[in-house]
Amino acid sequence: MIYYSGTPTLETDRLVLRKIELSDAQAIFDHWLSDDRVMDNLIKGAHKSVSETIERVKEILGKYDTQEFCYWGIELKASGELIGAIDLFNFDSMTENCEVGYSIGYKWWNKGYGTEALRAVIEFGFRHMNIHKISAAHNTDNPASGKIMRKVGMEQEGTLKHMIRNAKNLYKDCAVYGLLQEDYLKMELLD
Ligand SMILES: CC(C)(COP(=O)(O)OP(=O)(O)OC[C@H]1O[C@@H](n2cnc3c(N)ncnc32)[C@H](O)[C@@H]1OP(=O)(O)O)[C@@H](O)C(=O)NCCC(=O)NCCS
Repeated sequence: MIYYSGTPTLETDRLVLRKIELSDAQAIFDHWLSDDRVMDNLIKGAHKSVSETIERVKEILGKYDTQEFCYWGIELKASGELIGAIDLFNFDSMTENCEVGYSIGYKWWNKGYGTEALRAVIEFGFRHMNIHKISAAHNTDNPASGKIMRKVGMEQEGTLKHMIRNAKNLYKDCAVYGLLQEDYLKMELLD
């Protein structure tokens, strides 16, 4: 059984993972949602105006009332800047599986923040929510995403041709990754 507890604040060495707020909209737009370098790797394209981001943030805020909604803004402890977002989604009651998605602003890439946030959310999903399996898929032309999945113990299960078509109408092959709760817990015992 999945134990839903909404989006509680999670803390790592350098990050606070917290609910986003309406006042974050400008930072979200500036730091990643308006940036093709980030958004070209996702299905939905970059926002052209902050008003689009405000609508998206309002949509997210409306969902925080439900316990089944897990969407964190990623804040740097050192500066208080909001540098990205990460979420657990597509909870399936039959299998108790879900997916994870994430974005980090370009300015903060390759500093270990993506790995740190993903590790915290995976731990929360398995230890607190009792998720059975967490999956994710990345475009094969976006290897950094696969790298952070492997760094937290996820394994590639295959590649699906033309799994998505992005906002620029380009089909992308995707590498599909997953991690079972039982394997995660064994891995933790070995650490
Ligand atoms: C994927 C993403 C979240 C990674 O965030 P990040 O904070 O840069 O991640 P980290 O710094 O923790 O790790 C990145 C790793 O990828 C590696 N990497 C970067 N570019 C790479 C490339 N072209 N090929 C292979 N590895 C690469 C880095 O060296 C690093 O590994 P290392 O720590 O072993 O050196 C970030 O690039 C991003 O937001 N991309 C756009 C959105 C996206 O792809 N979301 C996921 C969709 S599935």
